Amino acid sequence: MWGGRFAEGPAAVMREINASIPFDKRLWQQDIAGSKAHVAMLAVKGIVTGEDAQAITEGLSRVAEEYEQHGVPVNMELEDIHMVTESRLAELIGPAAGRLHTARSRNDQVATDFRLWVRDAMDEVDAALKALQQALIARAEEHAASVMPGFTHLQSAQPVTLGHHLMAYYEMLRRDRSRFADARARMNQCPLGSAALAGTGFPIDRHMTAQALGFDGPTGNSLDSVSDRDFALDYLMSATQLSLHLSRLAEEFIIWASQPFGFVSLPDAYSTGSSIMPQKRNPDAAELVRGHAGRIMGCMNALAVTMKGLPLAYSKDMQDDKPPVFEAHDLLGLCIAAMTGMVEKVDFRTERMRALAMSGFSTATDLADWLVREGDVPFREAHHITGRVVKLAEERGVQLADLPLADLQAIDARITESLYDVLTVDASVASRMSHGGTAPEQVRARIAEARKALAGEGA
Ligand code: ARG
Repeated sequence: MWGGRFAEGPAAVMREINASIPFDKRLWQQDIAGSKAHVAMLAVKGIVTGEDAQAITEGLSRVAEEYEQHGVPVNMELEDIHMVTESRLAELIGPAAGRLHTARSRNDQVATDFRLWVRDAMDEVDAALKALQQALIARAEEHAASVMPGFTHLQSAQPVTLGHHLMAYYEMLRRDRSRFADARARMNQCPLGSAALAGTGFPIDRHMTAQALGFDGPTGNSLDSVSDRDFALDYLMSATQLSLHLSRLAEEFIIWASQPFGFVSLPDAYSTGSSIMPQKRNPDAAELVRGHAGRIMGCMNALAVTMKGLPLAYSKDMQDDKPPVFEAHDLLGLCIAAMTGMVEKVDFRTERMRALAMSGFSTATDLADWLVREGDVPFREAHHITGRVVKLAEERGVQLADLPLADLQAIDARITESLYDVLTVDASVASRMSHGGTAPEQVRARIAEARKALAGEGA
């Protein structure tokens, strides 16, 4: 394409290091759409004839059909998707194909294509996350009153409800979706028409192409437009944050599935056996979701380091923007789908959870709170008294509720029979009625809000 200036062809290794077609062929749909919008505008502005524009548009449709049916041919000599498409177009329609690249450069072309691709990727992630949220809500509703141990430091702390625990992940995903939505709104401006770096002398209409491609309008500075990859980094940073959340849920499933916990039985469909230990069922899918967070973060890091310190405007370094985004997006799709399947199908062992929720003196705080409420004891003193009760129960190897009243009154005379009412795990969770608390009533209220929010989003 630049043969006029060059006496010698490229070295074999130059071809190889230079070519992006092996990966940027994934942009073919966006590339065709961008070219069609561009040539339609060129015709309206009288920059190419209506006849040429029609030939080009029809030719592009034929190229698209070929790609659809046979895939994009990987021709390293033609370097990238833009040139592969243009050269095929020339084969199909002849010299008129050469007019398509008027008032355009591959720099604004690739910036446009990649934005369109990332925008679709964001929409895909959003839809998948919504499905995962719905799965979480359904299971949370089922278990709004199922009691389990709540942990801090992974030590039994206070009883909580399983529904509450699952809804915590709904909240994380809500923030993730809002992060992607922010990024999408910010990136939705069209760089097409910025040309190589300086804009163009042809009387183009950038508003027209922006609109045709579903952008809110054209970008404001041609130098920035061809060298901005913030949208890809925004995607990767949002993906990183999301993958951290998914890895935490995956880790919970891994811990919960281990025999000492026995809180869940993971679905067969998401587990594997061992080739040597016949009894084993390993949580491989969850482990890979946990692990893939590392790779997704690596992709984010790769592009951040590629972009660091690049002067304006386009540099070929930027060609390396695509592989990490594609890789992260593929991994993310797998991770979200695997977690959705596991959430939908996991078997919660609620009896086991309940049994462990009672252990570890998990209602000690309820005892202290009772002393504050019923005995008007300052909380710090109540904490101290409760400590002595816990010590006694520990020495005897019994639960708090198993200690006789006389022994409790020997520790503090203000204790009465009604204390026993607050020592059960059900009473404990039911009492946590503060906004966002673990009481089944609060959990159900939040589920209702969540359902309403999702329904309000439409399809
Ligand atoms: N394949 C290139 C990329 O992905 C397209 C832009 C090339 N521009 C250029 N001036 N060589 O970045």
